[in-house]
Amino acid sequence: MLISLKGQVALVTGASSGLGAGAARGLAACGAAVVVNYHSQPEPAQNLVDEIRAAGGQAIAVGADVSKEDEVDKLLAATLKAFGRLDILIANSGLQKDAPITELSLEDWNTVINVNLTGQFLCARAALRQFAKQEIRPDISRALGKIIHMSSVHQVIPWAGHVNYAASKGGVDLLMRSIAQEVGEQRIRVNSIAPGAIRTAINTKATSGDAEKDLLKLIPYGRVGEAQDVANAVVWLASDASDYVHGATLFIDGGMSLYPEFRNNG
Ligand code: BGC
Repeated sequence: MLISLKGQVALVTGASSGLGAGAARGLAACGAAVVVNYHSQPEPAQNLVDEIRAAGGQAIAVGADVSKEDEVDKLLAATLKAFGRLDILIANSGLQKDAPITELSLEDWNTVINVNLTGQFLCARAALRQFAKQEIRPDISRALGKIIHMSSVHQVIPWAGHVNYAASKGGVDLLMRSIAQEVGEQRIRVNSIAPGAIRTAINTKATSGDAEKDLLKLIPYGRVGEAQDVANAVVWLASDASDYVHGATLFIDGGMSLYPEFRNNG
């Protein structure tokens, strides 16, 4: 099936780099008009917008902190001003502030929960409120709207030294499934993507040199993922090719969540 998102408007949070940038590129390549949200890096966001436009696509860059209610409202307003509607939300913004539990500050706990979990709630809520004002357009999609939450393998794999991050992603899982249960009958599809180790800036250390060798022991498929691997899943989940997929988490992890330590009899 050839995927077309023509006529649809996608908002991707945290899209100035990494998985968000990859998702924005993928969605634009399939014809969606894309809002490239950034937090503190206007330049790479604008470069991505220029790149999408140069390839014949439509995009704008909008700065907003997704953990702040008024900024999410402004982000939505900017989306509507530019493109008049919203069809797809990729709630992607996320960060890590790692520390052993006994050294983890309340501030770093709060920052991670605020961006990774509260931010996804605020963006999903804003998108759902907007979807409710729109009608299904069968010419562009069978769904009234689609939300994709960016989770992580750490929504199921406990992660020592990263309890704030793992707790936020565990939260994203039940946030996503509860929203999905609540809004499905409005023909709004809600799903998550749970990436494993992907070669992005957040992961440079873990994915190069000796660290990469260690990391590969945790990946049955035997390679580190690329942003494109995740973008492909984003595009599929945003399209009608996945129209009967709802409340699901797609693990894009080369098998990292398969308890690879048990390959040799545990
Ligand atoms: C984290 C990465 C990590 C991967 C696998 C992701 O959610 O952001 O830093 O390498 O999970 O552990």
